[in-house]
Amino acid sequence: MSDSAAALTAGDRGRGPVSVDKAAGVDSGRRTWIALTCGAGAVGGLATAVPLVSSFAPSERAKAAGAPVQVDISALKPGEKLTAEWRGKPVWIMRRTPEQLASLKLIDSQLADPNSDRKAYPTPPYAKNEHRSIKPEIFVGVGICSHLGCSPIDRFQPGAQPSLPDDWHGGYLCPCHGSTFDLAGRVFKNKPAPDNLEVPPHFYVSDSVILIGEDKKA
Ligand code: FES
Repeated sequence: MSDSAAALTAGDRGRGPVSVDKAAGVDSGRRTWIALTCGAGAVGGLATAVPLVSSFAPSERAKAAGAPVQVDISALKPGEKLTAEWRGKPVWIMRRTPEQLASLKLIDSQLADPNSDRKAYPTPPYAKNEHRSIKPEIFVGVGICSHLGCSPIDRFQPGAQPSLPDDWHGGYLCPCHGSTFDLAGRVFKNKPAPDNLEVPPHFYVSDSVILIGEDKKA
């Protein structure tokens, strides 16, 4: 494990807008990424739907070197998502409920790449499964749309609602051009985004601590 890794805590309770942690600030590299890839609409989406919850961060030098980030998920309750930052990217960690997990089996036929076979953002072998994760309930994914790089927003509430189909089971909506993703980050068919959300290299340091940025050494 890197000694420059950072610990983060759960903050997004899935109840709508949450402020960015001012103590942590917004990384300049992340700002650059937002400006280059999203435009004004996406910035709004990031600010409200992908709160940064880091309690402290790696040094600038460590971040520049792509240091792994250590995240404590012990406070994350079923149905909640937190956002960490790794290499200037938002990394989502969501603890899915049993109902949300069950919904993943119902929509394979609606997905562009249900088994994560496409190679643009290769899914690590340990996440190439039905739930796209190491532990079934915990999803870890990079919150950047594979179309033009906006950050999708949470749409966890099932059912009909604006910009979503009537049989929606919960997932993510990219506000830029309407791509939709399920709760495993799998993109729906016939959307601008060509690929599923990236699953970053990661492993469990302990039952409730994840290291993002490295695969477990053999
Ligand atoms: S950037 Fe997500 S749909 Fe275009």
